[in-house]
Amino acid sequence: MTTVIEIDNLTKDYEVGFLRKKRVRALDGLSLRVERGEIFGFLGANGAGKSTTMKLLMRLIYPTGGSARVLGRGIEEVSMHARIGYLPEHPYFYDYLTAREFLVYCAELFGYPQRECRERADHLLGLVRLDEKSRDRQLRKFSKGMLQRVGLAQALVNDPEVVFLDEPMSGLDPVGRREVRDLIDSLRTTGTTVFFCSHILSDIEVLCDRAAILRRGRLAHVGRLEELRRAAGERRAMELIFAVADAAQIRSALSALEGATVVAVPGGARVEVAEERDVDAALGAVRAVAGARLVSVQPVGNPLEELFVGGDEGAPTNN
Ligand SMILES: Nc1ncnc2c1ncn2[C@@H]1O[C@H](COP(=O)(O)OP(=O)(O)OP(=O)(O)O)[C@@H](O)[C@H]1O
Ligand SMILES: [Mg+2]
Repeated sequence: MTTVIEIDNLTKDYEVGFLRKKRVRALDGLSLRVERGEIFGFLGANGAGKSTTMKLLMRLIYPTGGSARVLGRGIEEVSMHARIGYLPEHPYFYDYLTAREFLVYCAELFGYPQRECRERADHLLGLVRLDEKSRDRQLRKFSKGMLQRVGLAQALVNDPEVVFLDEPMSGLDPVGRREVRDLIDSLRTTGTTVFFCSHILSDIEVLCDRAAILRRGRLAHVGRLEELRRAAGERRAMELIFAVADAAQIRSALSALEGATVVAVPGGARVEVAEERDVDAALGAVRAVAGARLVSVQPVGNPLEELFVGGDEGAPTNN
């Protein structure tokens, strides 16, 4: 395995307030490794420091401490940046160019010959599923979702070996989300390494080989998704919904089951048990209730969400 992203103790303080005398630590000693070909998710709540990390790696801002290497080169090396792609959080476009003109322009920046620039623009606009008639419209007339597609196309214009995507699904409707998800997934076949941040758990869950969870500037967890789920704890509460004429019957049937709560809902009862293994006991007990019927069983909440939101430890240091 080749490590393509190496982050060591990366730290960023922003200077804020009157005369910029106050410092706010947005990123606190982040160390992380990403291997070639991985689709790596970088997860965290709003303000956790995801975009700060991306901007540091892209050399748009400078670190307070620590270092990072991409493709074996220090992030200050300009030649490395020609081999990677980046979709910023708030992409800025030249409003008066059409989608096609903009992509040709992006390709020109990498020095491809004219004809190839046009071919690349066409290929990428197809890849991000921008419909044929929108390709020759000015970007200022585009919706947020369409701009997001153009941004993605732009990030891939140089066939990057590593692509950094800051919230690639933002602003997209459910169909668009799925298309972008499929597009990112298809990058696997070309061996492209993808580092993408999101605060949407489900996007990370379906796409990523591994993920890191950032909490208030600090790395809270990193690992394969099943490891993260395990870290979140296997003890998870389960919810059972029964259709029944009188919820009180369910309540009395489950009175002996420790940790079970029963509330009446329209047409039935909602039961919550403390652990997955209590489900069998609850079903057994309810079987004795005449006319009761199981409607659904599902986990309460998402164990990954617990890691994501977390406790109070790891608060940012302000000094
Ligand atoms: N230019 C800046 N000046 C001062 N503080 C900043 C600046 N940029 C970011 N911050 C602060 O740094 C912290 C991390 O911000 P960052 O944008 O990296 O978070 P994020 O994880 O990308 O959040 P989101 O999910 O909202 O995009 C936040 O507390 C934010 O207020
Ligand atoms: Mg951000």
